Amino acid sequence: MKKCAMIGCGGIGNYHLEHLVQFTDIIELAGFCDLIPERAQSFCDKAGAGKAYTDFKQMYDEVNPDMVFICVPPYCHGEIEYETIRRGIHFFVEKPVSLDIDFSKDIAAKVKEKALITAVGFQCRYGTVVEPSFDFMNENEIVLVEASRVGGVPEVEWWRDKKRSGGMIVECTIHQFDIIRYLFDEPELVFTLGARGWVEMEDYDTDDVSVTAIRFRNGALGVLSTGCYATEGASFDSKITFSARDKRAVHKIISSFEVFEKAKADRIDVEGFVVKGDGGLGKSSGVTTYKQEGDAGIPCDRTFVEAVVSGDASKIRSPYEDALKSLIFTMACNESMETGLPVKIEY
Ligand SMILES: NC(=O)c1ccc[n+]([C@@H]2O[C@H](COP(=O)([O-])OP(=O)(O)OC[C@H]3O[C@@H](n4cnc5c(N)ncnc54)[C@H](O)[C@@H]3O)[C@@H](O)[C@H]2O)c1
Repeated sequence: MKKCAMIGCGGIGNYHLEHLVQFTDIIELAGFCDLIPERAQSFCDKAGAGKAYTDFKQMYDEVNPDMVFICVPPYCHGEIEYETIRRGIHFFVEKPVSLDIDFSKDIAAKVKEKALITAVGFQCRYGTVVEPSFDFMNENEIVLVEASRVGGVPEVEWWRDKKRSGGMIVECTIHQFDIIRYLFDEPELVFTLGARGWVEMEDYDTDDVSVTAIRFRNGALGVLSTGCYATEGASFDSKITFSARDKRAVHKIISSFEVFEKAKADRIDVEGFVVKGDGGLGKSSGVTTYKQEGDAGIPCDRTFVEAVVSGDASKIRSPYEDALKSLIFTMACNESMETGLPVKIEY
């Protein structure tokens, strides 16, 4: 049985733990590490297995894991990855992989050198709505991508400090940037405007809202709005619209995928209006809906664990070197926001 450990027993660590306890047919949950001892101990209690640590090196010495889930905040990457690689431990790491592109490039190179298996927490790539989305991309030429992700300020204290979290684009909306890359195309150029002044909160030092214009390598354009200014769910939003000349589709990460096209029989909606160019106004015959089934985090985590057990990493949809590109994409938006200039994206 391969041994699995975890570093960082907070919010997302708990999400992974809920999955990992279902995989004890192929792994042993051997150790949990957090700077806060009670957190590590509570994970052992939940798992009914493993030993609690506050020092990951001591855990590595004693447990000697085959794989580790690294679930620490964006500003805590560095020594953990170097030590994990030095010891030849395969690793799953949460997004964003860091806030330092040079560091992450170095990690990607070292991972390659050591032929380690890696995966990153872009579970949206494993959603059941991904397959129909790929079909849509293959069958249609997309002209415009419009996306939004608006929510409130996440509760973890480090999040409000852009230096530690990376801000909304890098820490949260990276899921949308990543799935656009995965389903559609790579970005070539970004231009981002940010604004502040609505969120009133102690120790808050990041952008409330931003808008990014994107030019993709295939020539299509995109616009992505994001914000953490919302105080009520009524103001929340999350969707990506991919528009072709004769139809459009709306992808909601790990939720749904809807294709709006000309109704087959005619173009008359229920009220009797002629629907010009917007099949979505018609009641149903021009709309096809796919709903997410199950928790995409389960196949995401299971794929990594199985890859380590079998030695075959081919089914992992977000290895480290690919996730690095989503970091570069989102950090380019931050750079643009800071300089007021468009930023060319080079991987
Ligand atoms: N994939 C997703 O959908 C998703 C969702 C939420 C969070 N995340 C990502 O997960 C990461 C963690 O977020 P979170 O909400 O769980 O944060 P959190 O603050 O709830 O938990 C992080 C934990 O890491 C611990 N930690 C930090 N440095 C450590 C170290 N050197 N050794 C041991 N423990 C250490 C902290 O004590 C804390 O308990 C972030 O990068 C976040 O973006 C991903």
